[in-house]
Amino acid sequence: MTYKQNYNDIAMEERNKTLGEFIIENQKAFQYSSGELSRIINSIRLAAKVVNYKVNKAGLVDIIGAVGEQNIQGEEQQKLDVYANEVFIQTLINREIVCGIASEENDEFITVKGSDNSNNNKYVILMDPLDGSSNIDVNGSLGTIFSVFRRITPIGTPVTSEDFLQPGINQVAAGYVIYGTSTMLVYTTGHGVNGFTLNPAIGTFYLSHPNMKFPESGHIYSVNEGNYVHFPQGVKNYIKYCQREEEDRPYTSRYIGSLVSDFHRNMIKGGIYLYPTSSKAPKGKLRLLYECNPMAFIAEQAGGKATDGFGRIMEIQPTELHERVPFFCGNYDMVEKAEEFMAEGL
Ligand code: AHG
Ligand code: MN
Ligand code: MN
Repeated sequence: MTYKQNYNDIAMEERNKTLGEFIIENQKAFQYSSGELSRIINSIRLAAKVVNYKVNKAGLVDIIGAVGEQNIQGEEQQKLDVYANEVFIQTLINREIVCGIASEENDEFITVKGSDNSNNNKYVILMDPLDGSSNIDVNGSLGTIFSVFRRITPIGTPVTSEDFLQPGINQVAAGYVIYGTSTMLVYTTGHGVNGFTLNPAIGTFYLSHPNMKFPESGHIYSVNEGNYVHFPQGVKNYIKYCQREEEDRPYTSRYIGSLVSDFHRNMIKGGIYLYPTSSKAPKGKLRLLYECNPMAFIAEQAGGKATDGFGRIMEIQPTELHERVPFFCGNYDMVEKAEEFMAEGL
């Protein structure tokens, strides 16, 4: 059953709940909370609306195409990548609610200082401001991914790389925005996953997908099969397993090329997303801190699983900001099966 069919089943009092109301209610649940985390989610909500507005006009204004520069990872930056990066960073800086920001599009992390040059905030944020950039020019779905940690170094001192290089299990919040047929904000603070859909006419996000969970079983596998010959043997064997005719198979294949969209579909319909190592990308392609950790946190909160093929993503101790890892994420049983093939395929 999909969420669309379920919407009418949402209790009446929940149905018209806005993201703003939801945030206020949930802040009460965190005893002694200072409200900083709520203000961070509020800023993401605002920045998401600004980016959404621009994404929707992409074919009409001069925003499609490359900037002519590469990011630290050698990837060509698109105009919308740069725009989304600036919107999210400026929104967070202006509100003085985090002490540091790391972004996929910036070489180094940013230290945020308050207007009086001090900073007493306790959270850092890491983000992929625009995910699925290859979809920009073809009107495909895009996303934004974010991850929030409590800083390790003392409040009031400058942030250091130690504050950003934390394992995913330390995340206090993570989420994504999907700019698709509708725009949604999906996030967790470790108490389940909730999804909010934007009503663009009035600019308000409404709770549309309360307590999201992967379905019992999944039938979709999402992987760039163009890289098949370069994959490790375990992945090749798993893909063949997915394609074999058996009682519950063959599975169907779906791949958009935007982690956010592929993940979102799989969480709703049931499936697995794989971006393994390959001889072309020996460490995988996806970034541990901006893409894999936040998606792993959401997946686990929705009853799914996220690994690098052998071990839990959220237990990896990062050593550098733009580190890449192989990523296997989705329905618990499907990821477990893929791991069995990985262990055998060595
Ligand atoms: P980004 O646009 O932030 O660079 O991320 C793109 C990522 C991810 O979203 C997607 O699943 C993957 O790259 C697609 O890679 P391939 O084109 O190699 O399949
Ligand atoms: Mn990305
Ligand atoms: Mn990106």
